[in-house]
Amino acid sequence: MAVRVREHVNPLSERFQRPVPLPVWSQVYAQLDRPFHLDIGCGKGNFLLAMAQCQPNWNFLGLEIREPLVAQANDRAAQLKLDNLYYLFCNANITLDALLASLPSQTLQAVSIQFPDPWFKRRHQKRRVVQPELVAALAKFLRPGGQVFLQSDVWEVAEEMQSHFAVHPDFQPIASSSWLAENPFPVASDRERATLDRGKPIYRAGFQRQTMHNSPQSPRLHHQPAPQPLTPDQQK
Ligand SMILES: C[S@@+](CC[C@H](N)C(=O)[O-])C[C@H]1O[C@@H](n2cnc3c(N)ncnc32)[C@H](O)[C@@H]1O
Repeated sequence: MAVRVREHVNPLSERFQRPVPLPVWSQVYAQLDRPFHLDIGCGKGNFLLAMAQCQPNWNFLGLEIREPLVAQANDRAAQLKLDNLYYLFCNANITLDALLASLPSQTLQAVSIQFPDPWFKRRHQKRRVVQPELVAALAKFLRPGGQVFLQSDVWEVAEEMQSHFAVHPDFQPIASSSWLAENPFPVASDRERATLDRGKPIYRAGFQRQTMHNSPQSPRLHHQPAPQPLTPDQQK
């Protein structure tokens, strides 16, 4: 049966201000010591569904504030018997810190935030998912050398997300500039595919959690080739 899903929900509304109860992770994932990839604002979860199948040695966790999408996505993962994939209904801005503290230490190695809701108006800026507190939580729990991938089709949103990571002392750009020409993952998200189909530009950025020695040899996201920085023409 088709479930009616709202196009947007307001993350600042009263009912999204409480942290959600967290599952017992050892009952969710077959192997809890695999590296984790966290996708914040995962929508229908198709990106992670494909990633979990092509990277079986990783655990994947999607966070989504529209509850019906989460139920459907978990049903699909269960039908495919994927023991390395789970979706959690939550407001990432409220639940992230407790959630990351509950995962085995040093397992968070990749984070993606793709096409978060733009909330264009200045008075709605606080509804955007990438806030300084979220960046600080990721810096606290991401393993040194772990990476963050950001993309949006809205320049102002991409630039704002990028700047929140750029000013954090624990993050450094993956490439010589933080802007990337390509998605470093082998899978495109739904919104990425739709944007490419319309021939519209996508603004992408990547950051790495500082290692102790800032080693340039740190592993790349999922062992993909190093992403290429955008040319100035591609950036606007
Ligand atoms: C435009 S969709 C993009 C979905 C997917 N990432 C993609 O690229 O196709 C953005 C998603 O982020 C979710 N979202 C927005 N704010 C959120 C928050 N604070 N916590 C969790 N999910 C959020 C929205 O409900 C929506 O499903």
